[in-house]
Amino acid sequence: MRYAHIVGWGCYLPEQVLTNDDLAGMVDTSNEWIYTRTGIRERRLANEKETTATLAFEAAARALAMSKINPTQVDLIIVATSTPEFVFPSTASLLQDYLGARKAGAFDLSAACTGFIYALSLAANSIATGAVDTAVIVGAETLSRITDWQDRGTCILFGDGAGAVVLKGSDIPGGVLATTLRSDGSGGNLLSLYNGRGNAVPHYGTSYLNGHKSTIHMNGRQVFRFATSVVPESIEEVVEKAGLTMDDVSLIVPHQANQRIIDHAAKKLKLPPEKFFINLDRFGNTSAASIPIALCDAAKEGKLHPDDNLVFVGFGGGLTWGSAVVKWNVTPPPISPMRRQWRRARYVAARARSRVRQLARRLLAWIAGSPTPDARLKDADKRPEE
Ligand code: ACO
Repeated sequence: MRYAHIVGWGCYLPEQVLTNDDLAGMVDTSNEWIYTRTGIRERRLANEKETTATLAFEAAARALAMSKINPTQVDLIIVATSTPEFVFPSTASLLQDYLGARKAGAFDLSAACTGFIYALSLAANSIATGAVDTAVIVGAETLSRITDWQDRGTCILFGDGAGAVVLKGSDIPGGVLATTLRSDGSGGNLLSLYNGRGNAVPHYGTSYLNGHKSTIHMNGRQVFRFATSVVPESIEEVVEKAGLTMDDVSLIVPHQANQRIIDHAAKKLKLPPEKFFINLDRFGNTSAASIPIALCDAAKEGKLHPDDNLVFVGFGGGLTWGSAVVKWNVTPPPISPMRRQWRRARYVAARARSRVRQLARRLLAWIAGSPTPDARLKDADKRPEE
């Protein structure tokens, strides 16, 4: 039996801050309304040069640096995201290229805000069976690009960011002890992002799709109701599955959607609010990225200790929800500035290698006489006149 241990973690938040007061200048709302209804004070926004993959890269590079694992040792990369650059290539494949993780398989996972839990569960199970040994799991989002900035019911909630963990197989018991994953597709219309390509789900109806274009559509009250019912249940279920009781749990790291949802869960489980780690006041709801970002902050604040039992709980579009219990048994080794520089140099080399491969492909295509994509486009322009 192999155990999947978290051996490194990292997060990246874009620099640009959007405060509640900034939002009050954009839509009919106020700092007071947003803070009392959600607990959010500000969120981060990606700049025009940043994409989901670049945020994912920064978080993954930090997690790998902490774990002292080289990208070439990584077997599997999973990026949980609702805001990929493309349908394909996946954001995970872009990340694989940026990292120079030459021996890794890579794919994206779509489970909205529960994506990180799903990715953790899949990777931990792959490690437990011996199929892979080292995995990089990332939650990364640029939600600002799919937010309707005129809809005050949703634009106040979301932010951009990325968080990552490195999982490694070990014979030492611990790491990811149990996970539970759930879905209820009958509630899919409560929280959705239509891709605008005409693949209408018949029972949602065309008026539903026409009305919602390609920005987040949400029935806030119904999602709130759903979240408050599944979060406590899911936590209890996963703790029992891990063979523990609530007294054994040191800290719960929930999806950072709304302070009131977390308060409700604490009350229902008869737990003190301090058992839940919260940083949504600074970053808002970053969907699949929120749990690993919160984990990083909890580590930074000294809230994680060896042998602590942590619970992660996520919920969101799908509808999906899920939880994980993780035994925390790592003290990160210090990283020297020299080593940090060396790792950065490796990523620059990985970019250069990627460019060389692209050039080599073009050169080989030219030698073989097959048209390059640019030549094909030129040909396509010519044909009608010929
Ligand atoms: N500023 C001021 N007033 C507002 C705003 C705003 N930003 N948004 C809505 N209102 C108004 C509404 O128009 C409504 O006015 P009315 O009574 O005159 O009609 C009133 O406030 C109450 O609206 P509700 O939607 O009922 O407000 P509610 O208390 O439910 O709070 C909120 C809304 C914060 C969105 C809440 O429902 C919520 O947090 N739901 C869960 C959302 C969530 O967590 N989603 C993410 C899930 S994870 C994922 O997968 C993305």
